[in-house]
Amino acid sequence: MTEEPGPGPFPTMTAAVQETYGPADLGATPLFGGGFINFGHWEGIPLDPFPDAADRARSQQALYHRVLASLGPTRGLSAVEVGCGLGTGCALALEAYGVAQVTGVDIHPQQLDRARRAHAGLLAGGTERLRFVRGAAESMPFGDAAFDRLYSVEAAQHFRDLDAFAQEAARVLKPGGRAAVSSFFVPDADPARPAQLAGLLDTFATGLDVAHSVPELTGCLERAGLTDVRVTSIGAAVWPGWDRWLSATWEPGTWPRNFLRSYREGLLDYYTVTAARPAPVTTPGDRPPAPSA
Ligand SMILES: C[S@@+](CC[C@H](N)C(=O)[O-])C[C@H]1O[C@@H](n2cnc3c(N)ncnc32)[C@H](O)[C@@H]1O
Repeated sequence: MTEEPGPGPFPTMTAAVQETYGPADLGATPLFGGGFINFGHWEGIPLDPFPDAADRARSQQALYHRVLASLGPTRGLSAVEVGCGLGTGCALALEAYGVAQVTGVDIHPQQLDRARRAHAGLLAGGTERLRFVRGAAESMPFGDAAFDRLYSVEAAQHFRDLDAFAQEAARVLKPGGRAAVSSFFVPDADPARPAQLAGLLDTFATGLDVAHSVPELTGCLERAGLTDVRVTSIGAAVWPGWDRWLSATWEPGTWPRNFLRSYREGLLDYYTVTAARPAPVTTPGDRPPAPSA
């Protein structure tokens, strides 16, 4: 597989992303853990009595299961995870979904160091089934048509340029390839939403998270040439559990508790969005002429 610069210059990390996934090491805080950094999919996980650290890890792994299962067949195929964080979702794709080769891409070099340490055993196997590569969603360091599957879990809220990400996703997927993107997005195209979210949630006010909307994402994917774009809201399984987990650390009325409020007020939801790169259509006229006698 070729590794080469993407079509544009390497995008610089924002100060907020640099700090959050560098010195602040968000994944090492008790809010996350288990090798993941996402809000979790809490279906089937009791919220009362209060969930423990194992339940929390299970919720985050369950979000990956949700996304990986939405990719269609994966056995024996190649996949790229965009915004792989600590790489645990890449290992899951190999171990539970029979993916033949997974590439984890992340913009933050410290996250990649952590991922390489956490999965040293798999990397040392010499099978080249797993690798971690520094790159940005908006400019991926791979050749065209490099992967059968592309997925991304709770990273797209950080991408500055969704159009560039969608163009790159379409470029690095093989014809017939499939993509799944899961994160929190604004449900509608109301231009008031970014200011409303910045007023409620510090991560939007600081610019760590960008108030991308679902119509914006689906438009970007379609403009990039991807088809069969399907949107599924999974917020009912994300926000109440995330808020319950937050309640151990954050009092009612503090800004992190506004995630659930934003969901209830229709400002934010959690989604899985899938799309496909069309396979070339072969018609009888495309066949080589039959040999003549
Ligand atoms: C919330 S963490 C999610 C990590 C992992 N997907 C998970 O669910 O455990 C977001 C990750 O996206 C990465 N990231 C942020 N902006 C990015 C970009 N433009 N391109 C690639 N990765 C990015 C961050 O460095 C971080 O590791």
